Amino acid sequence: MAIFKRAAATLAVLAAAAMIITPQKVVAHGDVTPQAVDTSGLPDLGKEWHEENPWRDPKGENWLRAIEVGASGYNQNCARCHGLGAVSGGLAPDLRVLEANIDGDEWYLERFRLGYTQNGITKMPAFEELLTQEAAWAIRTYLETRPDEGALDDHLTALNDARDKLQKMVSDGKTPESVKDQVSSIRETMLGIAGVVETGSGAPIADSVASKAAAKLDGSPESLKNAAEVLKVGLSAAQ
Ligand code: HEC
Repeated sequence: MAIFKRAAATLAVLAAAAMIITPQKVVAHGDVTPQAVDTSGLPDLGKEWHEENPWRDPKGENWLRAIEVGASGYNQNCARCHGLGAVSGGLAPDLRVLEANIDGDEWYLERFRLGYTQNGITKMPAFEELLTQEAAWAIRTYLETRPDEGALDDHLTALNDARDKLQKMVSDGKTPESVKDQVSSIRETMLGIAGVVETGSGAPIADSVASKAAAKLDGSPESLKNAAEVLKVGLSAAQ
């Protein structure tokens, strides 16, 4: 059953990818119309290329914003070859498994800046002149924090349970204040899961549906609704 579900999810991703690709002209030679990446909120990295991802540290102040910028930059510029959500459909390598260290960064930058040409045919465009250094490292941060294949499988019951509880609180019209203890226990559970979800890259913390849900439970008036929504969307993609 789980296998069937995963196959169905893969088909859904492929179908979505096909829908995105079909309306454009078929490009076999790697020409792309680069999509500008909005890197506002991230610091300027200067002209000199860094050798190592400056935003790798999950405790660093730019980590979350880098992932957010990278997700959009990736999905607009890289996904049509490397797969939606960084799940490769086989056209180009799966970028989630590139090691999150300086060696992985060196290889990443080489491909990012120079692209790849084989027998005079551009298989991957050079992005050096198309996107900024800030966009490059944001995309890298997004990629290395993807949860590993199946990394959420053991936690689906707990995640579904949290989603249902939060949805019930929202439909019962609860305020975060009135259900403080329950919410803090859900948040603890989410943080616990977030801490053990593995990445394919070896990066210590994955940007998972659990870490996102925990971050949304910040006590603000919209927090219950926001966390329930994150779980709902994330879990429908995972199952
Ligand atoms: C037109 C298709 C295409 C696009 C768009 C594209 N790539 Fe690629 N990419 C490829 C192909 C094909 C390869 C395999 C080249 C090789 O054999 O080394 C590749 C390889 C790579 C590699 C080396 C992976 C490895 O495991 O060796 C990295 C890193 C990479 N791409 C990053 C990106 C990023 C980041 C973007 C978006 C900014 C992007 N690519 C956009 C086609 C593409």
